Amino acid sequence: MREPGLGKNNLGRSSVAILFLVLLCIGAFLTTHLLDSSSNLIPGSSRQGSTFSAKTSKTPEEPLNQSNKLEFQLNCSLGDETRICLGSYYPSKFMLQNPDPSSSTPQSMCPDYFRWIHEDLSPWRETGITEEMVRMAGRTANFRFVVVNGTAYLETFDRSFQTRDVFSQWGILQLLRRYPGKIPDLDLMFDCDDSPVVRKEFQRGPDAPPPPPVFRYCKDDATLDIVFPDWSFWGWAEIDTRPWAPLLKEMKDGNKRSKWKDRKPYAYWKGNPHVAEGRVDLLKCNVSDKEDWNARLYVQDWNKEQEQGYKESVLADQCVHRYKIYIEGSAWSVSQKNILACDSVTLLVKPQYYEFFSRGLMPLQHYWPIRADDKCRSIKHAVEWGNDNEKQAEEIGKAGSSFVQEELKMDYVYDYMFHLLSQYAKLLKYKPSIPPKAIELCSESMACPAQALEKKFMMESMVGGPSSEAPCTMPPPYDPAALHSILEEKQNSIQLVEEWEKQHGDGERKHP
Ligand SMILES: *[C@@H]1O[C@H](CO)[C@@H](O)[C@H](O)[C@H]1NC(C)=O
Ligand SMILES: *[C@@H]1O[C@H](CO)[C@@H](O)[C@H](O)[C@H]1NC(C)=O
Ligand SMILES: *[C@@H]1O[C@H](CO)[C@@H](O)[C@H](O)[C@H]1NC(C)=O
Ligand SMILES: *[C@@H]1O[C@H](CO)[C@@H](O)[C@H](O)[C@H]1NC(C)=O
Repeated sequence: MREPGLGKNNLGRSSVAILFLVLLCIGAFLTTHLLDSSSNLIPGSSRQGSTFSAKTSKTPEEPLNQSNKLEFQLNCSLGDETRICLGSYYPSKFMLQNPDPSSSTPQSMCPDYFRWIHEDLSPWRETGITEEMVRMAGRTANFRFVVVNGTAYLETFDRSFQTRDVFSQWGILQLLRRYPGKIPDLDLMFDCDDSPVVRKEFQRGPDAPPPPPVFRYCKDDATLDIVFPDWSFWGWAEIDTRPWAPLLKEMKDGNKRSKWKDRKPYAYWKGNPHVAEGRVDLLKCNVSDKEDWNARLYVQDWNKEQEQGYKESVLADQCVHRYKIYIEGSAWSVSQKNILACDSVTLLVKPQYYEFFSRGLMPLQHYWPIRADDKCRSIKHAVEWGNDNEKQAEEIGKAGSSFVQEELKMDYVYDYMFHLLSQYAKLLKYKPSIPPKAIELCSESMACPAQALEKKFMMESMVGGPSSEAPCTMPPPYDPAALHSILEEKQNSIQLVEEWEKQHGDGERKHP
C-alpha cells in the first residue's frame, strides 16, 4: 500500500493569500447535485454565535430555481491562517422550504455494504463511547477531528505519510459542505497508517473495558478498527491519481475504447512488489521462456514514473487486458477500486484486509477468487476458464465495474461517511467540545494555501453546494443468521473455484 520513494515532497503550504480563487470543475460537479425547479430549497439562517455567518452568493431568501443555483466559492482573501475561516461563506443549515410529505419521494436504500457500519460499531453498542476511550484511541492517531455546531476543528499529533491526513480531513470537510446542519457534534481519532491496531482481545471477558475507537482505512478479522474511506477518494497527489469522481468517469470512457473480447487474453498486474511478500511471490508467475501462467506482470517504478510525468500509469489506459490481478500491499491497497472499474475480470488474490466497501463484493459475481498459497496455478486456471467461458467471464468483469460505478460512486461514499459518523456520534456519552490545542478547519484554510496537485485535486473534489437530496436510507443490521449465510455463501463460492482448480490440475496431469 505505502509506496516508498516519494517522501513528503511538495507539501509546502504557503500562507500567501491568493485572491479570488477561480473554482475549477464546479460546474460539472454541480449539475449532478443541483436543485431543480420542483424542489423549493432555501439555505438556512446564519450560525448563531459562530465565527462566520452563512450567506449565499445569491439572495438567500429566495427559493432557488434552475437559473438560481446554489454554489459557494472559496474566499481566499483572508490569507492569515488564524483568520482565514472568517471569510468562509456557507449556510449552516439547508432545508426544504415547504416539505410536502405526500409528494416527497422516499429516499433510496443505501447499498448493502452499509450494513457493516452496524457491525463495525457493535463493540460500543452496550457501553457507549466515553471521552476516556477516545483519549486512549489517540495513542496511535495522527489527528483528532472534532465537529461542534457544524464547525470542524483539528488537532494534529503527528503528520501522516504523504498527504493521507490532509486529504482525509478535506474529505470530511466536504461532507460538512454536502450536508450542512446534518452532521452531529463528534470527536474522533484518526490513524492514517496501513495496519489496523485494535486487537479483538480487547473485548475478551465480561469486565474487560471496551476497545478504543480508532478510525482508519482498513481492518481484518482480528481487529476492531473502524473503517473509513481512504484519502484517495479526494486524490493522491504524490502519484498524480485524481479524485474518485473524475477518475471514475475517465475509466468509464476508457472502457468504451476496447471491448472485453478484443482485450489481451491474459492477467495483468503492475505495482510495487517491495511492500509485501505476497507481491514478490506473485512475480514468480510472470511469463518466462519455460512457463506461461497466463500472467503479464510489471514492476511500477514510481521514481521513473514521476520523472516521466506518470504517462505510463494513466489508469484508464490500463484496461486493455481481459483479466486484472488485485493483490494486497502491506495492508489493503487503494488500487482495488481502480482495478474493479476496468470492465476486466478482477482476479482477486485472497485478501486479509477490508476497506469499507469491499465487504460488499461477492466471489464469482464481482470477481474471481485466486488462492494466496498457489497463485500461479490459480491464475492460469482462472484465465483458461474465462477464455473458455467468455460470456460469463465478461459478465463478472461488468458486474465488478457496475459495483464501483453505481454502489461506490461519490454520493454513496459521502452517505457512508454520513451514516458512520452519525451512528458513531450517537454512541458518544459526552458532549464534544473544542480541544484546547485544536484549530478551526475550513475548506479555505486547506485549499487556499495549497499548491500544485494538492490544490488541483482539492478544487476537483470540492463540494460546491448542499445536496438537494437527503442521504440514502440506512439498512438495518444483519441478523446473525443472515450474516452467517452471506459469509457462508462467499466461502462456498471460493471453495467451488478451488475444487475446479483441483480437478483441472488432475485432468492436466492425466492428459499431458
Ligand atoms: C427563478 O430565477 C429567475 C432568475 O433569477 C427569477 O427571475 C425568477 O423569479 C425565479 N423563479 C422563482 C420561482 O424563484
Ligand atoms: C471574503 O471575506 C471577507 C471577510 O469576511 C469579506 O470582507 C469579503 O467581501 C469576502 N470576499 C468575497 C469575494 O466574498
Ligand atoms: C454551540 O451551540 C450551542 C447552542 O446554540 C451554544 O450554547 C454553544 O456555545 C455553541 N458552541 C460553540 C463552540 O459555538
Ligand atoms: C514479465 O515478463 C514480461 C515479458 O517477458 C517482461 O516484459 C516484464 O518485465 C516481466 N516482469 C517482471 C517483473 O520481471
